[in-house]
Amino acid sequence: MALKFITEESFKTLAKDKKVLARFDFNVPMDKKDGAVIADTTRIDEAIPTIKAILEAGAKKVILMSHFGRPKGKVDMQYSLEPVAKCLAEKLGMEVTLTETALDRGIKTLLGLNESKIILLQNLRFHPEEEGNDREFARQLSTYGDVFVFDAFGAAHRKHASTYEINAFFKNKAYGGLLLKREVESLDRIVKDPKKPFVAVVGGAKVSDKIKIIEALLISVDKLLIGGAMAYPFLKAQGHTVGKSLCSDEDVTLAKRILGMPSKNKIVLPSDHLCSLTFGGEPVDVGQTNIEGDLIGLDIGPSTIVNYNDYLRNAKTVLWNGPMGLFENKAYAKGTLGIAKTLSELKDAFTLVGGGDSVNAVNQSGLASKMSHISTGGGASLEYIENGTLPGIQALKFGID
Ligand code: 3PG
Ligand code: MG
Repeated sequence: MALKFITEESFKTLAKDKKVLARFDFNVPMDKKDGAVIADTTRIDEAIPTIKAILEAGAKKVILMSHFGRPKGKVDMQYSLEPVAKCLAEKLGMEVTLTETALDRGIKTLLGLNESKIILLQNLRFHPEEEGNDREFARQLSTYGDVFVFDAFGAAHRKHASTYEINAFFKNKAYGGLLLKREVESLDRIVKDPKKPFVAVVGGAKVSDKIKIIEALLISVDKLLIGGAMAYPFLKAQGHTVGKSLCSDEDVTLAKRILGMPSKNKIVLPSDHLCSLTFGGEPVDVGQTNIEGDLIGLDIGPSTIVNYNDYLRNAKTVLWNGPMGLFENKAYAKGTLGIAKTLSELKDAFTLVGGGDSVNAVNQSGLASKMSHISTGGGASLEYIENGTLPGIQALKFGID
């Protein structure tokens, strides 16, 4: 069975003059200084083509739904979808009606009116049944639409009522949206038979966060370049000193396990570093693998950048997940921005960036448009690469009994 997308004729036939219920991931980051301002609208921007395609198919109404933040099953208006409703209305140039709750009695009335073509259900996670993958909650949501569209790639790793169980009520009437299509097609170029050489760059703070993806990638990559604080447990596991760098015993144990695997020779570690005596303080160049005394490693060093770039320049497929250092601080952003720049210069390689921090770094570098694909899913893209699929995608593809 193949995944069906809204580009198929059968969708257009089913959606014409009907109500289309569509799940998106509108879980956008908010500006911390002012809770009502969306800091990055990418996930909303990426939903617009799907909403427009549904309208173009002649849908009578589009009922949008999403979660937002983690309100833990209770109504908490700091997690209201109101800012998202406003943003959608602006971008679509249409009115968007936000309901009071996802199960509001007024919704049925709204669905019968000619006005309110676009309805956004209030945050699904105000109901504990959403995360509980509750069948009855999914059934109630399903009554709002004749056809279901799933485009919430960023939440497809969650087995929740609106991402999973809802498929029980749309047999042969469930389709993937345009964003889901692009995400799956792009990730499949990493997961299924990637063009070689395939080089992965993995960074971030902790080995424990990335252990599963490292183990999965070691099977298919030619080289796995490691940076960020998670490099230090690997170096320590090899017998190097790491000074006062971030390096938990648990991570050293995991690093030892990985370095004991048959494919350990694919792993490339930093050979020099940018350090400091205080976290984010004055930078000190450490031109060797060992970090001594009280120094804290905060970025990969210049020789490492050259070495990593050499591997990347020959690559035909590149996956990048996680920054190479404390890139939020300009003094320690060279490694991360260096990777972004090299990837942006690759001519015929497929470059995929996934994971919140590396996506931020690419956006900051102004080089985002030069990447082949930037995933809108952090956890979702990692789990897709680990497992080759996600619960929300499986449910959409095969349905639920
Ligand atoms: C995300 O941003 O990771 C997705 O929207 C899923 O949200 P969650 O991690 O709170 O389940
Ligand atoms: Mg998450």
